[in-house]
Parts: sequence; structure tokens; C-alpha cells
Amino acid sequence: MSDGDYDYLIKFLALGDSGVGKTSFLYQYTDAKFNSKFITTVGIDFREKRVVYKPSGPDGNAGRGQRIHLQLWDTAGQERFRSLTTAFFRDAMGFLLIFDLTNEQSFLNVRNWISTFCWESLLFQVKACFCLLEFKNKERLPYFETSAATASNVNKAVETLLELIMKRMERCVDKSWIPDGVVRSNGHSSTDHLNANDPDKSKCAC
Ligand code: GTP
Ligand code: MG
Repeated sequence: MSDGDYDYLIKFLALGDSGVGKTSFLYQYTDAKFNSKFITTVGIDFREKRVVYKPSGPDGNAGRGQRIHLQLWDTAGQERFRSLTTAFFRDAMGFLLIFDLTNEQSFLNVRNWISTFCWESLLFQVKACFCLLEFKNKERLPYFETSAATASNVNKAVETLLELIMKRMERCVDKSWIPDGVVRSNGHSSTDHLNANDPDKSKCAC
């Protein structure tokens, strides 16, 4: 795949307290490497990876692969960067909410992270839709115990989130709706043809 050669641009954002392993998780996912030295993230960073997503058809068989350009935003967990990093929440289509199993406070803070990104997202109808769905089905938030050091479950966690988002988009396309920013490589939104001259079509119907 060359640089602009993909079907969907998908943006995920990793968040959680400082030191829980966001950067390490993403580094393991994109580069299959682990660094035991702690270099705290300043502000925001991002990594990228190309993957092929194969949706399963109605018969259960994998359909044609879709070329995905994954943009993985890595936020700083430190409080002093909070206003900067939350400004990026609205562009994310999925969140990797990370806590450290050996640090209880980082788990307790998960609730605060959820309310922060929901609040930011509520400013934008598209994300509010996803967000409220998550709230309604709280118990259905997928959970994985991962290790950036051994790579255990790292790919699986991202692949599960990708599948969730792609399935939601497929459902939304059925209802003539797709989030902004999902751009095909020809530079046009994949719903340009659907939303033209019809403001109601830009509303989320999920
Ligand atoms: P901020 O950038 O400050 O928000 O922190 P972060 O969440 O990005 O943490 P980072 O990935 O930098 O990891 C912090 C420390 O934990 C580093 O020393 C990592 O090597 C270590 N670490 C991260 N994930 C793991 C893991 O899965 N296993 C082990 N053993 N150590 C980890
Ligand atoms: Mg970091």
C-alpha cells in the first residue's frame, strides 16, 4: 500500500493516567517494540499503522478486505496537559482507555476519563451518539488485560476496537450516515453523495 492508498482513515486515541503505559502499548502495537525506560509524553503524539479489515459477510465468511489507515493518538496523562489533550478527543472515533493493574488509583480514575471524553464528545453530535450508546451499554465495554512488555493481547485489543467501529459505521451507512473525517483516499468523504442538499442526513441515526 502506498501512502494515500487506503479505504478508511480511522482515528483512535489512547488515554489514561500518566505512567499507565499508553505510549508503550501503542509502540508495541505499531512497531512491536518495548522500552522499559519511562519517557513521559509531552502534550500529544501519534503513531500510524496500516491494516486490512475483513468484515464477515452474512454467511459468516470474510468479505473483501478494506484497507485501513489507523491513526493512533497518544495523549499525555499528566494533568498539566489536560486542556491540550482533551481538544483532540472530538476527532477520535474510538478510545483506548488504559489503566495500570498494579495501580488502583489509575483504575478509579477511569470513571473520570470516561466523563471527560463524553463531555467533550457531547459538543459534537456524531460522537455523542457513540458515547451515549456506550453509556447505555456500559457493561459491554470490551476489556482486555494487555502487556506492552510481552505484547500479550495488544493486537487483539486494537483489532476488537477497530471491528466495533467498523461494524457501527456499516450500520450507520445503512441509515445513510457516517462520521465526518472518514475519508476515502480520493479525498472525498464517503458520504458526500449521501449528505448533499439534505441537512437531516448529516444527523446521526444510530
Ligand atoms: P504518560 O506519557 O506520562 O501519560 O505515560 P504513559 O501512559 O505513556 O506510560 P508509558 O508507556 O511511558 O509507560 C510508563 C512506564 O511503564 C515505562 O517505564 C514502561 O516501560 C512501563 N510499562 C508500560 N507498559 C508496561 C507493561 O505492559 N509491562 C511492564 N512491565 N511495564 C510497562
Ligand atoms: Mg506516554
